[in-house]
Amino acid sequence: MDDLVDTKRRRFLTQVTATAWAVGGVFTAVPLIRSMTPSARAKAAGAPVAVDISALETGQMLTEEWRGKPVWIIRRSQQMLDELAKLEDVLADPDSERSEQPGYAKNTHRSREPEILVLVGVCTHLGCSPVQNFAIGPASGLGDDWPGGFFCPCHASKFDLAGRVYKNVPAPTNLVVPPYKFLNETVILVGEDDGGVA
Ligand code: FES
Repeated sequence: MDDLVDTKRRRFLTQVTATAWAVGGVFTAVPLIRSMTPSARAKAAGAPVAVDISALETGQMLTEEWRGKPVWIIRRSQQMLDELAKLEDVLADPDSERSEQPGYAKNTHRSREPEILVLVGVCTHLGCSPVQNFAIGPASGLGDDWPGGFFCPCHASKFDLAGRVYKNVPAPTNLVVPPYKFLNETVILVGEDDGGVA
């Protein structure tokens, strides 16, 4: 008889413990979901995105997402920058007159700081994502005079290392430069500049 009582009591305590654990799980899970939802919602709605570029080395590119689109950040070398000035004759819009960028990026290097380039990685023809090809000359597979840039695999549009489109390709304008600003030397805020949120 005592054994029967002990067994029932043990089963009861086990159920109480399991119920308490389950309730505790709900209470701990809700704050986690609440803490994650606003940022995910904000990102989807197009909130500015802070990007740490401290590990980005010269000649490298990183990709972030802003408003559901890829945003590229490239740290250009002096050689890459020097090439930009030589390309005017082969570009469709070398001075970015017909292209979309903030005023501070309407220059040859299309950026605030010459070495750091920020671009929306979406082809201005039909929206494919171009691929980077930073190799120079024959090593690029794009001709002896290729100075490094981006190539769209969909219909062969080409862009230089400032996102400027070449002549005689389907893409009508340069790659878009989004609004951005430096929060400090190593963090860029994409989607907001001194004029406010885009
Ligand atoms: S979508 Fe890039 S060339 Fe057509």
